[in-house]
Amino acid sequence: MQLKEIHEGAAALRIYAPKGAVSKDLPVFYNPIMRLNRDIGVLILSCLDKKGMQIADIMAGSGVRAVRLALELPAGRAGLIVANDASPDAVRLIEANLRLNSLAFKLIGENELADKPKAKGRKPAILVSNLDANMLLLKSRGFDYIDIDPFGYPGRFIDAAVSRLSREGILAVTATDTSALAGSQQAACMRKYWSSPLRGPLMHEVGLRILICFVQLQGARYDKALRPVFSYSKDHYMRAFFRCEKGKQRVDKLLSETGFISYCPECCSVSSFNSLESLAEGSTKTKGSETEGICDQSLNSCNCRGKKAFAGRLWLGKLWDRELIKGMIKMLSGVQGSIKGSNQSGSEDKDKKSSTIWDRGLKQFLELLLAESGVNTTGFYDMHAFCRAHSIQPLPKIETVITRLKKAGFRAARTHFSPIGIRSDAGVEEIMEVITSTRQQ
Ligand SMILES: C[S@@+](CC[C@H](N)C(=O)[O-])C[C@H]1O[C@@H](n2cnc3c(N)ncnc32)[C@H](O)[C@@H]1O
Ligand SMILES: [Zn+2]
Repeated sequence: MQLKEIHEGAAALRIYAPKGAVSKDLPVFYNPIMRLNRDIGVLILSCLDKKGMQIADIMAGSGVRAVRLALELPAGRAGLIVANDASPDAVRLIEANLRLNSLAFKLIGENELADKPKAKGRKPAILVSNLDANMLLLKSRGFDYIDIDPFGYPGRFIDAAVSRLSREGILAVTATDTSALAGSQQAACMRKYWSSPLRGPLMHEVGLRILICFVQLQGARYDKALRPVFSYSKDHYMRAFFRCEKGKQRVDKLLSETGFISYCPECCSVSSFNSLESLAEGSTKTKGSETEGICDQSLNSCNCRGKKAFAGRLWLGKLWDRELIKGMIKMLSGVQGSIKGSNQSGSEDKDKKSSTIWDRGLKQFLELLLAESGVNTTGFYDMHAFCRAHSIQPLPKIETVITRLKKAGFRAARTHFSPIGIRSDAGVEEIMEVITSTRQQ
């Protein structure tokens, strides 16, 4: 297969471009759809107040992330970038792509990982390795940023990654096995993520929260509290960035924000609870029944008499650090601003290259997340499911319902998980009232 030259961000790249769909059977994997995913990684690292970061791109593929980080991070942010892949073809392409961008590097073996090369001035040192990702991590002295971007399931790399993640370090995890996380394969989710998923309108949010909790449980074993600072579900994948805090108490606090949720498909109500005890509180025990003490029938019946579905263990806390999203939007606007500036000064070539630096939908996506992050709930209302459940026709306008909810004193926003979803702290009855009042006018 022929190599083709493309541009992504500030990088020139040679990649294998298939005639049909991108698949993992490519000699070296590169998926243009994941550009937004890579943009977000570059932006997050650009926004951190850190110097000399030790960065590990443990499954580098074509090397696109490593090359972009080397070219696009503010000077001095990265001290070392390791671009690793288990495939020799990938490593050859990583080397070619580094050369194409005039980035000096050193190819190293597993025994050279412990000696950290010094950054040259404010430019990072770049190492390339052809190792199994776990070997690379375990032989290293640790990193401030680790990016896990596998084909499918990331679980096999989490333990080594959390064990080598520094205090205040950032861990980024991508999962593309959404059929397990989003519940079309219940048994696979239990086997791979130790959690029950939820089929239906909330499946992607629940899947993302399961992924987050799964990573946190592994961090807990090292007294590392992995708090999500940026997470989302998009296209065929889920992605979460965690900031690592050290300490037993921090881990205990973090774990107290994990638990379970119930969802009633008959009325669309969502509840969350931290433990089975807190779920059982208020339920009437059927004394002498066969299920006494194990499973009370009333636990899964909703006030509307519908039957609730349960999911978890999962993360119930915040999915984003709002300040980080604000910083990312600011940085994005700043870069776009400086592009205009460079144009005025006559540097058209630079302008042409920079103007394509970010995915076109990135700003809009970040603004959607910023609005969504202002409503701290687990779960949202899918308006199709809600209106079907409550025999409401026609479907009200999402924007109108959001405006009315806000006027009524609730928090409400669109959600990135669904174009017909509303995230709000209003209950089912209150949403009904707002929709009814909208229709009466
Ligand atoms: C989804 S691709 C990575 C794509 C790349 N990060 C990007 O943004 O274009 C997954 C990569 O992981 C590599 N890989 C698979 N198993 C690995 C392992 N155990 N250790 C290191 N690399 C591995 C594959 O060769 C492949 O290049
Ligand atoms: Zn119900």
